Amino acid sequence: MDTAEVGDLKAMDEAGFLDGVTTNPSLIAKSGRDFKEVVAEICELTKTPVSAEVAALETAGMIAEGERLASIADNVVVKLPLTIDGLIACQYFKRIGVKTNVTLCFTPSQALLAAKAGATYISPFIGRLDDIGLDGCQLVRDIRAIYDTYYFDTEIITASVRTVNQVTEAAIAGSDIATMPPSLFEKLIDHPLTKVGVEKFVDDWKSTGQSIL
Ligand code: E4P
Repeated sequence: MDTAEVGDLKAMDEAGFLDGVTTNPSLIAKSGRDFKEVVAEICELTKTPVSAEVAALETAGMIAEGERLASIADNVVVKLPLTIDGLIACQYFKRIGVKTNVTLCFTPSQALLAAKAGATYISPFIGRLDDIGLDGCQLVRDIRAIYDTYYFDTEIITASVRTVNQVTEAAIAGSDIATMPPSLFEKLIDHPLTKVGVEKFVDDWKSTGQSIL
């Protein structure tokens, strides 16, 4: 789930659909809450990977912030931007055994370097590419091909997902994970023909007068 709203995450967890959480500075700003408090609350709720993003722009600051975030809970994944400083910090966290999510990936070459830097996860932002008329899913296909060719174990988190079709396309392209707002997740389940079909079955079943129990 791509959200910093703890209430939404609770509902998803109870329904058994919570595989991990990604946050970013924009989502934290939207929540209006204290970042470290939110991360701690999410990590109490779920033992799945929780990505928390650094704010610093240079390696030393990213390392200091990343270590602070990683100290909140064992399942914190340090989220780093795809810049030279971010990739150097990524190598550091790989060395000390802290998981990383390298974010804001827009090209296959960026993803290749993130994998070489030891990223646990790479986040291609497909929606933002589609927004400017490019093919976001092609990026996922290209990253999949590169990672399979060189046996990188970096997992692909398709991010910046806006539509059901993008989720399907990312899955077909071999993305390991997709992160999305809860509102989009609900759309993955709903279909008008399913609704109509259930109603018809309910009516027909009633007309039989039978009971299964
Ligand atoms: C994922 O890690 C990002 O937080 C998120 O998917 C970005 O999505 P946006 O492009 O809708 O802001």
